[in-house]
Amino acid sequence: MGDTATTHHTKSANNGANDNQIGFKSRVSVIGSGSWGSVAAKLVAFNTLNLSSFHDEVKMWVFEETLQSGEKLTDAINRTNENVKYLPGIKLGKNVIADPDLDNAVEDANMLVFVTPHQFIDNICKSLVGKVRSDAEAISLIKGMEVKIEGPCLISTYISEQLGINCSVLMGANLANEIAEEKFSEATVGYRNNREIAEQWVQLFTTPYFMVTPVQDVEGVELCGTLKNVVAIAAGFVDGLDMGNNTKVHTSGFITSILPISTLSSFSCHAYY
Ligand SMILES: NC(=O)c1ccc[n+]([C@@H]2O[C@H](COP(=O)([O-])OP(=O)(O)OC[C@H]3O[C@@H](n4cnc5c(N)ncnc54)[C@H](O)[C@@H]3O)[C@@H](O)[C@H]2O)c1
Repeated sequence: MGDTATTHHTKSANNGANDNQIGFKSRVSVIGSGSWGSVAAKLVAFNTLNLSSFHDEVKMWVFEETLQSGEKLTDAINRTNENVKYLPGIKLGKNVIADPDLDNAVEDANMLVFVTPHQFIDNICKSLVGKVRSDAEAISLIKGMEVKIEGPCLISTYISEQLGINCSVLMGANLANEIAEEKFSEATVGYRNNREIAEQWVQLFTTPYFMVTPVQDVEGVELCGTLKNVVAIAAGFVDGLDMGNNTKVHTSGFITSILPISTLSSFSCHAYY
């Protein structure tokens, strides 16, 4: 649990010999293959090819569908290297392997990227209990909350509790189709207490067009990512009612009252967009 960044060497410069655990290469699986899931796979796959501490291959779990042509979505993704349904026209990287079998997709992975619509995470986690590595690290890109009788539960907390693993988050004002076209955007990794893990996630997602910053505040980052959409709707109401910009600024104030302990930097990236 050090506070020192992990060094990842480029594959051309280093064959993994200097990595923290000699010879160990992380395996990354992406659980979800909608438009944001496909972009996540593209970002990660670009980096696993270039960083010696990761296996090149990135498995992407696909909720299997049959296309109008009769072809299975998974087969179409692996044939064309594009998610022809959810992100057509964008090459994911040849090292992205679509897999409709959830157990198979997570087997051996020690870095799990959860990026499905929030309403499916309950079933996914339940079917993964006992199937993921005990030393696996997760990150959630999911916006939303799991609402239970006892009250709302953050998705990262839900994943951690169900699977018994640590879960960070990556959130931002991110539009999948724009990042897919490599238009500049940025996001925040919220991590709990392991800076090394945070740095690994940052390196996995960072590209020249996608800037990622770590913040030690899982809840604050996740809530900002999730509630910013509520703020956007409220801001639209304020515009529609012609109430002025002073009122609009205050539409975001409720986030601090929900989570007053959140650090200011958690808000910097996306609270107002
Ligand atoms: N799209 C964006 O620009 C964007 C940006 C940031 C964050 N997000 C977040 O990322 C998450 C994923 O969103 P997305 O845009 O990739 O989704 P999407 O709407 O593009 O795709 C929906 C996905 O759900 C799958 N699915 C359908 N039925 C299912 C089932 N029963 N069980 C499991 N999966 C099923 C589909 O196969 C598909 O992969 C969401 O939480 C969203 O808020 C999206």
